[in-house]
Amino acid sequence: MSATIKNYNDVLDMLDDLLREPKEFWENFYENRDKDIPFFKVKGPDENLVEFFDILNAPKKVLEIGCGPGRNAIYMSKKGCNIDALDISENAIEWAKDRAEVEKVKINFHCKSLFDFSYEPNSYDFIYDCGMLHHLAPHRRLTYLEIVKNALKPNGHFGLVCFNTNGALDTTDWEVYKSGSLKRGIGYSEERLKDIFKDDFNFINFREMKKIEQPSDVFGEDFLWVSLLQLK
Ligand SMILES: C[S@@+](CC[C@H](N)C(=O)[O-])C[C@H]1O[C@@H](n2cnc3c(N)ncnc32)[C@H](O)[C@@H]1O
Repeated sequence: MSATIKNYNDVLDMLDDLLREPKEFWENFYENRDKDIPFFKVKGPDENLVEFFDILNAPKKVLEIGCGPGRNAIYMSKKGCNIDALDISENAIEWAKDRAEVEKVKINFHCKSLFDFSYEPNSYDFIYDCGMLHHLAPHRRLTYLEIVKNALKPNGHFGLVCFNTNGALDTTDWEVYKSGSLKRGIGYSEERLKDIFKDDFNFINFREMKKIEQPSDVFGEDFLWVSLLQLK
């Protein structure tokens, strides 16, 4: 890191340095596949993703950001999508590749941070994020939003699953930097989450995820918001 802040990227790098290093954090998180984490045990897609695919007109080109062990990417691939699935963690991508092989589906996996990902602008019909946004540092949310907007086709759709205030504390952006910690993620109120997206997107739906008792073909926990949005 340079001694002088010379541009906006230097500010982002400086703020990154105040918080945990995401790649190391996520590699450790996925080291043991038998951990007692709700989405580790379920192979099926999010219950809301199945609903989104009933509403959407068969999206062809799809990007999943923070795909983890690949539950949702595998579902979308089986639905006929040409899918780029991206995750910062090699352990997660290895796990997702193992599952894709068992399920005999072809997915373009990318082990990359979203912020280093090269994509063709305005090329995706649908972008999906289950569980990544609430783990991002507040200053990276701005870049996240720019990438999602630039990568989508005009009027493209965006699907989001994100902690509500039962999923994690409603920590303000200021508190994150003052305490130097993202803790276990940011829990968003409905108002706060809508405020982030409302200038650029129309909300097709916004609701709490349904809690699904396991074993089931789908995943659902009620400490999450789910939303389908369309680029304005
Ligand atoms: C809570 S997990 C959700 C995994 C998966 N979507 C699922 O629901 O099964 C969040 C994921 O985001 C990934 N992630 C976090 N920051 C990232 C970044 N900057 N770029 C790409 N992936 C990231 C993590 O590695 C992790 O797999």
